[in-house]
Amino acid sequence: MEGRKLPIAVFVSGRGTNLQSIIDAIESGKLDAEIKLVVSNRSKAYALKRCEKHGIPYEVIPSKKFKTHQEWGEALIEAVKRSGAELVVLAGFMKIVPPNFIEAFENRIINIHPSLLPAFKGLDAQGQAFDYGVTLTGCTVHLVIPELDSGPVIAQAVVPVLPNDTAETLAKRILEHEHRIYPQVIQWFAEGRVRVDNGKVVVLGAKYGTLPFNPQLERF
Ligand code: GAR
Repeated sequence: MEGRKLPIAVFVSGRGTNLQSIIDAIESGKLDAEIKLVVSNRSKAYALKRCEKHGIPYEVIPSKKFKTHQEWGEALIEAVKRSGAELVVLAGFMKIVPPNFIEAFENRIINIHPSLLPAFKGLDAQGQAFDYGVTLTGCTVHLVIPELDSGPVIAQAVVPVLPNDTAETLAKRILEHEHRIYPQVIQWFAEGRVRVDNGKVVVLGAKYGTLPFNPQLERF
């Protein structure tokens, strides 16, 4: 018997490799989700080409079309509600999400960021980590709260910085881990295993504490 698929909306702004990793995980049967809608704030985002290729509905909703952030937020709320999505997945969405949107989908919006938060928030987190000279960095999936690149952590992957790295090779290596942990986290939501308790996330049945590298990952 076919199990239930978690209906999701994915928000993008650019090339959409994380979106692609979600599409691939769904198509290969590892991820029990269905992308009901992709939202982009940019009509030229390459991610939209991926939607066309895979027959995924999308809407372009640029913030500059609206007088206020609040009105933009209302349009985003409407679009997600209409789609029937129960989880909003920010995948390289390079705009600060309006507070009314976050309130409307409290604890149901997730983001991926290419650093071990709370280090290196904001733009070019990989370059920031490279310039700082850390020896370990990685990526983080977290629940979205109004403060940028903050909110309860759901999963992190550790990525070493190697002596011959450039900011670009490091970013590429981090991206490979993004493509593993993001579908895994969405699968946890699909399985109803994500709990928020006292401002922290606990994933029921996840294997914690088995470092090095990406302890909790089961399928990816
Ligand atoms: C990813 O590296 C993602 O972690 C980052 O943007 C890239 C999008 O790539 N997001 C942020 O920095 C959010 N603060 P993609 O379009 O190929 O998925």
